[in-house]
Amino acid sequence: PRKVKNICCIGAGHVGGSTCAVIASNNPDVVVTVVDLNVERIKAWNSEELPIYEPGLLKLVQQARDGARPNLFFSKNMGSAIFEADLIFVCVNTPTKQTGLGAGQALELDYLQAAIKRIAEVAQNDKIIVEKSTVPCRTAETIQGIFSASGRRGVRFTVLSNPEFLAAGTAVADLLHPDRVLIGRSKTPDGYAAAAALADVYAAWIPRDRIVTINLFSSELAKLSANALLAQRISSINSLSAICEATGADIDEVSYACGLDTRIGPSMLKASVGFGGSCFRKDVLSLCYLAESLDLPEVAAYWKGVIDMNEYQKDRFTTNIVSCLGHSLAKKLAVLGFTYKKDTNDTRESAAISIVSNLTAKGASVSIYDPRAKMDQVWRDIDTYVSVSGSAYEACMDAQAVIILTEWDEFSNKPLGGALENAQRSSDNSSGHPSGASDLTGGDASKKSKLDWAFVAKIMCPPKYVFDGRNVVDAGKLTELGFHVECIGKPSMS
Ligand code: NAI
Repeated sequence: PRKVKNICCIGAGHVGGSTCAVIASNNPDVVVTVVDLNVERIKAWNSEELPIYEPGLLKLVQQARDGARPNLFFSKNMGSAIFEADLIFVCVNTPTKQTGLGAGQALELDYLQAAIKRIAEVAQNDKIIVEKSTVPCRTAETIQGIFSASGRRGVRFTVLSNPEFLAAGTAVADLLHPDRVLIGRSKTPDGYAAAAALADVYAAWIPRDRIVTINLFSSELAKLSANALLAQRISSINSLSAICEATGADIDEVSYACGLDTRIGPSMLKASVGFGGSCFRKDVLSLCYLAESLDLPEVAAYWKGVIDMNEYQKDRFTTNIVSCLGHSLAKKLAVLGFTYKKDTNDTRESAAISIVSNLTAKGASVSIYDPRAKMDQVWRDIDTYVSVSGSAYEACMDAQAVIILTEWDEFSNKPLGGALENAQRSSDNSSGHPSGASDLTGGDASKKSKLDWAFVAKIMCPPKYVFDGRNVVDAGKLTELGFHVECIGKPSMS
């Protein structure tokens, strides 16, 4: 049996960095080296200010990186890390293609191919290559083809698929307690041996019955399918929120009632201003492209509907703001929350980007506060001028409306308690292990004090609207404070 002693991870991003921190801290006898072309990123991983924010991550990195017997390294020396490794994770980004065949839909595989070519160039002994990036079905075949064409003779490259299911904001908890670890392998002696070696790495902390081994192509497709199904649930509940607004039903109650059915379950049924993040949109579009290229236009159209509904939800929300504020749009608007969800500093594909851009295009003057998003990132994301505030109160000062776009706990004025409340909170947590997540938050931003809405009411200007794109506020209580409140999928309180 093959035993893994030395791991290299190509790509020090959200997935590569977090996954390797968890692998290294649970496998003290395995050396884990994470490499990247981006030298600044490597520098940041070697500092106290990591390039990504995830509750509990810094502590974990420090333990494995700086302890008495360090076994986690972040390096720019890709060649030697590849040379030394017996197992290589490929964790590079696979964004939507911007040019060429399939532009706007297919996944860009250039980064992945560059990484594979580098491995083929450098490797002088047998390697297990683990495709962790999200890729289209049958990419493993393309990778194997690159090795056959350009790998050194006599060196065996065994390709596995091991997609990552962590969610931003709960990455460490998800990695420590995954619902499952998926390993795809070919049905060859090499494939079986490589899958067993990778399974042993995970078995250091994950029960064996959660480590599932399947066919290579099924594993690749399972990742795209899982993201498509999760995005579809959000679009489904968002489509129902529009019906609620038109009828007077309440989407939180509808979602709670539906989620009690064990066949449906409560996760991912929280209505919102729309999903964001680097994965859902690109992976659903990639599935559409795959279906089209397989001459399955009906299947492509079905999944395209998930994206269309998400765009519709963002537009509907923006249109409602414009119609409520009418001609006075030019006065100050406060935006609370810019990341695509709470407990992350990731703004990629955040609903806030298109909503704020649409509002400024209509002449609005916007002031943004987010507890984690970096100021220069906000300015890179928005083409027109917006001001970025250091506190929620600064953003709300003299504003005529507050627009909540991320569900950061500090913005909520709801107490924890009732069954409906708790169900709604946990349904928003796709990881499904709230207890695991809570012991990771010590000392982190999630403990920030709650917004004093009575004070916000004092410092704002009329007409004092609150547009809650995440349903985090108790609209009744805010109405008592003199606000006009507009929520998603609820009767208007203005
Ligand atoms: P990321 O953009 O944060 O990191 C990717 C890193 O790879 C970058 O630092 C980039 O410089 C580096 N890179 C690109 N080409 C390289 C090369 N040839 N050699 C060395 N380094 C190279 O990406 P992220 O978010 O970590 O995603 C990686 C993959 O994991 C993607 O396929 C994504 O779809 C998937 N994924 C992402 C999740 C997330 O929450 N971000 C969750 C599950 C899967």
